[in-house]
Amino acid sequence: MSSLNPGSAMIIEHQLRQAIPEDLARLRQLLRDGKYVHRHLDWRSPLDWLGYQPFWLLLSGERVEAALACPPDPPGVAWVRLFACSEQERPSDAWHALFPHVLDGLGHTGVVAAIALRPWFANLLEHEHFTLHQRVVTLWRSLDLPPGEFLASGRAGELIRPMQLDDLEAVEQVDARAFGWLWHNSRGDIHRSWQQAAYASVAVVGSEIVGFQFSTLSPTNAHLARLAVHPSWQQRGIGWALLNDVIRYFRAHRVSQLTVNTQHDNHASLALYRKAGFRLTGEDYLVYLYTH
Ligand SMILES: CC(C)(COP(=O)(O)OP(=O)(O)OC[C@H]1O[C@@H](n2cnc3c(N)ncnc32)[C@H](O)[C@@H]1OP(=O)(O)O)[C@@H](O)C(=O)NCCC(=O)NCCS
Repeated sequence: MSSLNPGSAMIIEHQLRQAIPEDLARLRQLLRDGKYVHRHLDWRSPLDWLGYQPFWLLLSGERVEAALACPPDPPGVAWVRLFACSEQERPSDAWHALFPHVLDGLGHTGVVAAIALRPWFANLLEHEHFTLHQRVVTLWRSLDLPPGEFLASGRAGELIRPMQLDDLEAVEQVDARAFGWLWHNSRGDIHRSWQQAAYASVAVVGSEIVGFQFSTLSPTNAHLARLAVHPSWQQRGIGWALLNDVIRYFRAHRVSQLTVNTQHDNHASLALYRKAGFRLTGEDYLVYLYTH
């Protein structure tokens, strides 16, 4: 593969190789100047994946023209954490050069998954034989509205308290049981969620952690990033109690709105959020899968 250097008539040969930590500055430049940049919605920045494989680069001379990172985490699920391409390259050409190396690196097991946040990336994935798996929808609620009352029936007698470091192992177990395989969070991600959350809390029955939530805060709103109740304890008012405690917490901190994402076919969470006063915003993201 080669391209024309705009400053001269010289043909620059491209090279393909795995990314290494020393590529950090070159990759920063691609993320800053690249015409096409997909960053996964994540607790980590795409560059935090340097040092993990598969993470492949397309270079012309010392310049990184394109990058594709899909390290599996948790095992068996390789999200596209980064795909970026300079304006010298067509995204489809860069993808064709990089993706076979990524598949080799994955050992042809598991799935590659991607959340398309922009139409150009959705088009590319569709052309490259990814199949549409789900839609992630966004809901919004004004925090001017008061929280809901505790549910009259089915209370499990839980206590909601702030999450502590010692809780993370139990939180990981609830997460693994509550979410389908595609949406599991690894131990590392649970730890990062706890470190980055503006408010993280657990629901405890007796001495058992049966549910949890992580919420973040931006200058405009709070965002409920993850909410889960252990399947043995669902439909007893615990999700409702965790959610309304979040609403109470951010109202007390004078935050004016709360957003949340969920899957379009996650009927339990959609019913919960609607009951708590959330409305769909119409901002959807498409989730694609590639099985090899
Ligand atoms: C979504 C979830 C957190 C709900 O927690 P929960 O403790 O079971 O929910 P609650 O018992 O507090 O239910 C509160 C309300 O939510 C709705 N709801 C909860 N589960 C429901 C279900 N399976 N079907 C329909 N409505 C449901 C109901 O409106 C319910 O009120 P009601 O009991 O008066 O009808 C739980 O199902 C879960 O952990 N799911 C897996 C993880 C997940 O999808 N998280 C959210 C997406 S990020």
